[in-house]
Amino acid sequence: MSLPAFLDAMRTRVEPRVIVSDPEAIAPWLTDWRGRWTGMSALLLQPSSTAEVTAIVQAAEAHGVGLVPQGGNSSMVGGATPPSDGSAVLLSLRRMNRIRSIGPDHAVAEAGVILDTLQQAAVGQGARFPLDLGARGSATVGGLAATNAGGTQVLRFGTMRAQVLGMEAVLSGGLVHDSLSGLKKDNRGVSLDHLLIGAEGTLGIITALRLRLVPGAVQRAAAWIGLAGPHEALALLRRLEAATDTIEGFELIPDPSLARVLRHIPQTRAPLASSAPWHVLVEAVTGAAEEPPQQLLERLLGEASDLLTDAVIAQSDAQTEALWRLRHSISEAERAAGPAAQHDISLPIDRVPGFLLEEARLVEQRFPGTEASGYGHLGDGNVHFHVRAPAGAGEGWADSTEGKAVSAYVHDLVTEAGGSISAEHGIGQMKRGELARLASPARMQALRAIKAAMDPRGIFNPGKLV
Ligand code: FAD
Ligand code: MLT
Ligand code: ZN
Repeated sequence: MSLPAFLDAMRTRVEPRVIVSDPEAIAPWLTDWRGRWTGMSALLLQPSSTAEVTAIVQAAEAHGVGLVPQGGNSSMVGGATPPSDGSAVLLSLRRMNRIRSIGPDHAVAEAGVILDTLQQAAVGQGARFPLDLGARGSATVGGLAATNAGGTQVLRFGTMRAQVLGMEAVLSGGLVHDSLSGLKKDNRGVSLDHLLIGAEGTLGIITALRLRLVPGAVQRAAAWIGLAGPHEALALLRRLEAATDTIEGFELIPDPSLARVLRHIPQTRAPLASSAPWHVLVEAVTGAAEEPPQQLLERLLGEASDLLTDAVIAQSDAQTEALWRLRHSISEAERAAGPAAQHDISLPIDRVPGFLLEEARLVEQRFPGTEASGYGHLGDGNVHFHVRAPAGAGEGWADSTEGKAVSAYVHDLVTEAGGSISAEHGIGQMKRGELARLASPARMQALRAIKAAMDPRGIFNPGKLV
């Protein structure tokens, strides 16, 4: 690697504004959202066109400099944090933030367009971008595609993979892959779009996406429900799904997670008058000619009263937003509440309730003083299974010998149950060792072979995924 030679090459090929070398300007982008990893990067490159990304990739390959693509830096797995030895530089896509075109059923957005911006632009077309998550104010569409992000609308609309209709990306050699025309049918071999989705920036740099928009929500309503446990929650989901196809979100929240939100997030208040050990947030969206969603939820929840201890149905958009704010604030509240080992797991859905009750107790018995619990996207079989550290543990507990033993044990239990150790956040640098330890030889062989073929000089997001 020769950083000075790379810098010289850069100076001849891109405008000075693309190259940031001021350590103070770079510093905020070197630590991840959870504050778990801090890397080093002598430069921050911020191109504003695909041609500039091509020039950067070509120079990086010529001089053996790693590129760490970064969007909103909201990764939960240290995916956008550079290595700590300074061997790679940050490549920020945030300046590539134009919506190139938009209509009622699709948008062509550059990689650095922020999710919230795209959502607002879609509303302007009478449409919706059907993916939502707590980091909507900073996560970019490039990052969402690179991680195949999920969020709270997957139940009805699928993950980011289902929203991508086409892509522009810079691959090894600076070659540009372009499928932005959005062909419905295209069987010229393996889909490059789908290889890059979920590859976490290890195979190339996504510069633009053609994204699906769906018709705007005519009527939506949310309900907050108290119930005895995850088995009742799953039974409720099954009954709702049997009765209607209008359920868009179904989120499970244990009471301690709600309590942490109420304690740490300003201007929040308990949604129910009574207390409950577990909660569900459900959202229904219906069309103009259909039964109004408040009425629908009232009727269906009334029929399922044997499963609930209490419920409240939002009567206005403001009330709906307030309920969702409680849900979307959980990660922030969990972060504020102190050290924990976090696991983003998925299981066959029927196994989730048992895991949250029985396996959680196994973890607590094996690691005395810990508190294990999971929240999140029950409808997708995906929960964020956090094991809180024993009292008095330091901030770095998750990376201590005990914290790592907890994560290995949780991941073993998940693997035995036929689940995945990364449902939606990706592998990043957090789970690279665990992926290599637990994934099948077939998966590892394929991932490594694809990486070697697509990134022969090893410059794309070194140290992540494989
Ligand atoms: P970054 O964090 O900047 O990068 C993420 C990864 O993508 C890195 O590996 C990076 O190298 C790569 N990358 C970024 N841009 C590009 C590009 N243009 N080309 C190639 N590679 C690229 N995730 C979920 O799935 N569901 C949730 O519900 C959810 N909720 C969250 C809530 C909060 C409060 C926070 C902080 C995070 C949450 N996340 C969630 C995680 C995170 O928001 C997603 O992973 C998101 O997709 C990251 O987008 P980003 O632009 O911030 O990407
Ligand atoms: C969520 O669903 O809130 C997120 O994916 C983030 C988290 O793990 O807390
Ligand atoms: Zn999530």
